[in-house]
Order: sequence, then structure tokens, then C-alpha cells
Amino acid sequence: MRKKIIAANWKMFKNPKESLDFLDAFLPMVEGHDRDDILIFPTATSLSTVIDKVAETRVRAGAQTMHWLNEGPFTGQTSPTMLTSIGCTHVLLGHSERRLYANESYEHVNLKLKAAVAHDIAPVLCLGEMLADRQTGYTKDTLLAQMGAALANLPAEKMETLVIAYEPVWAIGTGSSATPEVADQAHAMIREELHARFGPVCAHQTRILYGGSVKPDNVSQILKMPNIDGALIGGASLDPGSLAAMVHYEL
Ligand code: 13P
Repeated sequence: MRKKIIAANWKMFKNPKESLDFLDAFLPMVEGHDRDDILIFPTATSLSTVIDKVAETRVRAGAQTMHWLNEGPFTGQTSPTMLTSIGCTHVLLGHSERRLYANESYEHVNLKLKAAVAHDIAPVLCLGEMLADRQTGYTKDTLLAQMGAALANLPAEKMETLVIAYEPVWAIGTGSSATPEVADQAHAMIREELHARFGPVCAHQTRILYGGSVKPDNVSQILKMPNIDGALIGGASLDPGSLAAMVHYEL
């Protein structure tokens, strides 16, 4: 059985004080919860505060992006070694908002993935088609192209910590998620491709999260699907009671 992951992507919300207020309320609600892994991805200026605050708990925190080089003249960027120096264990890579608003290509994501595994930072690789891809029957081609580029030249033995997040762009922030069946179909395609690229062990072990308008009232149905190993949650993760309710989803 793959342990499920409930992950919060806080995007550009919550300064350090607001992050601490959240954790003061949230941590007691999930104390001792071991059924699932819990991850929080705060904005860069709150990351170190959150990492320190969750250090003695089972919750882990990660960055929302990173550069692939350790240092250099790259204004505004954060490097893998800077992240490990503050105890960061996870990183989101290739989120559609990074691709849409920061010109991040899947070739960049490939470089970042290689850097993440080289520095023992577990990568959460985000994939997902646009509405036009789905409407024209190109969902599978899009997902395979994204995976092909992002995972190029990465050997199976480097994939142990890889997590994939399937986030259809048309479901992000819209309030209407993919149906559990539609999401599970996409997850099955992704798992098949992992099998073709890296073999059965990787395909079996890799956790594939669904993201896109996950809320307390739809999380259980989504997580019941056989290929869905967790959720990556934006808007509904900003409230401690809401995130805790999703951590305690019904099986
Ligand atoms: P929402 O949950 O707000 O739709 O965001 C999903 C997402 O982009 C998580 O990375």
C-alpha cells in the first residue's frame, strides 16, 4: 500500500506570522496522525519559519520552486543548497502557475528534478493539461510530453523519492474538480508511463497526487480511487480547520 500524502500549496499567501498562527491551530488537530504524510509548501519568506515550527512533528515543509544551480547571478532565485541549508526536504516543480506566469519550461523542470534528487530533496513534479487539450482529445499526449521532457535522462534508481501531482489546469482554483473517475484515468496513464520508463517497482511505489479544487467535501471520494495517492490542495488548505478535515478524510 502506498501511504497517502495530503499536501498544502499555499501559493502566494501567508507571511511568517500568519503561517505560525495557522500552525498553532492546525498542529494540535493532526497530532499523532500517522496514516498519511502531511506536507506544507509555504511561500519562500515563510519557509524557514514553517520548517522550524514543524520540526518536532510529522508534518514536513517544502519550497514552491527552486533553481537547478547552487549559486550564480540569478536574481530572485533560490538554490538547492540554500534549501537544504534550512532543512527543506521537498520541492514543488513545474506547477502550472510557474509555467504560465514565470515561463518555466519542462526542460527547466528536468534540470531542477536532476538537481533535487542530487541534493536529496524529494521532488513533487506537477503535470496537467489545459482545457483546450482535454476538449480536443490531447490529454494523454500532453501528459506524456510533459513527463518525457521532465523525466528525460533520469535513471530509475533516482526516482525513489519522486512524487507526481496531476493537476488539470482547468480544475485549479475554479471550484469544480475533475470527477474522481476522470482524475483516476489520468493517474492510470501516468502510472503506465512510469512503468514503461522505469519499470514495475517505480510504477507501483510512486505516489500520484490529484490537485484542482480539492475541498473537505470531495476529498474522500477522490482519495478512494485506486490510482490516487493523495491530494495537492491550494485554496482549501489556507484554513487550518479545512486542511485538518482533509487530513482526516474518510476511507
Ligand atoms: P486549488 O486547490 O485552489 O484549486 O489549487 C490547486 C493547486 O494548484 C495546488 O497546487
